[in-house]
Amino acid sequence: MDSVTCKFLHPSQLPLVIEPKDATLPYSELLLLLQQRTDFFKESLLKYGGILLRNFPISNEHDFSGAIQALGLGEFVQYIGGDSPRKKITDGVYTSTEAPPSFKIALHNELSYVKNYPRHIYFYCDVEPKQGGETMIADARKIYQAIDPEVKKRFSEKELLYISCYPYKSKLMSLVNKSHKSWINVFETEDKSEVERKCIENEILYRWNKNDWIQISQVRPATIAHPETREPVWFNQAHHFDFNPKFLGWKNYMGTKILYCRKHMLLHSIRFADDSTVSRDDLYHILDVLEDHSIYFPWQKGDMLILDNVLAMHGRAAFSGKRRVLTAMTS
Ligand SMILES: [Fe+2]
Repeated sequence: MDSVTCKFLHPSQLPLVIEPKDATLPYSELLLLLQQRTDFFKESLLKYGGILLRNFPISNEHDFSGAIQALGLGEFVQYIGGDSPRKKITDGVYTSTEAPPSFKIALHNELSYVKNYPRHIYFYCDVEPKQGGETMIADARKIYQAIDPEVKKRFSEKELLYISCYPYKSKLMSLVNKSHKSWINVFETEDKSEVERKCIENEILYRWNKNDWIQISQVRPATIAHPETREPVWFNQAHHFDFNPKFLGWKNYMGTKILYCRKHMLLHSIRFADDSTVSRDDLYHILDVLEDHSIYFPWQKGDMLILDNVLAMHGRAAFSGKRRVLTAMTS
């Protein structure tokens, strides 16, 4: 790798930062580098969990998409069953989240609550935020080690039952709660039979409720072994599925309690697979561990972040002003 330099921004060695030695390196050379040194990128991702490409000529969503395809880690996956509000930009490329800027999204592995989670997730910074808005990251191996052994044992043995409810078209919802999607957005179709087909394909149980709401539920493990290295990692979003004051803040929490007081409108809930309760003490402990291990670094326009979605977690800090960060996932 004579044409690039490698360094770290953080003592935890996540992410590995790769920059070109020649500041005028053309985009075609970046594509060649990604195509010809795929093994280096794969090994680095398995070792560090994430790579930040900085100061390369990546200028728009098409460059971003082309770089992902040149690296060739997998096929683009669509965001079916995903919960975060996103806009589709082009095939496989989405805005990273449309969640309100004031809302902090805690660390998570993407789609860890679905059967076919993506193996890699990518971010591209098109407009860098001036205040906040970092995509914070963390090593899921270290999170696994840091979680209290009793909590880890309980979560690993019992597994998690994720429950979500989505409305038909969320005109009212989109006014009062920009963070929650309709089932049309979640499944990218208005066809109920297509929704049902996708649920069955992905081992999701579904139930249609009144006013065309749908309730979906799925049992997923709380910890897994990395598919290649077999290292144990914390791999769940229990902390995202319980609406509590620590996660949402008191104002959002009280608003949510008032708006979604009826059972079929309970947006998310989390239980153990045996239907026993996941305690808030456990969830608060998890949120504390995630916060303690969060790595923040400011975005620069043109940055591209590549994460092994099992080894590395990501989240989003609150921000003000403009921010445009795109994302993509591969199988
Ligand atoms: Fe995410």
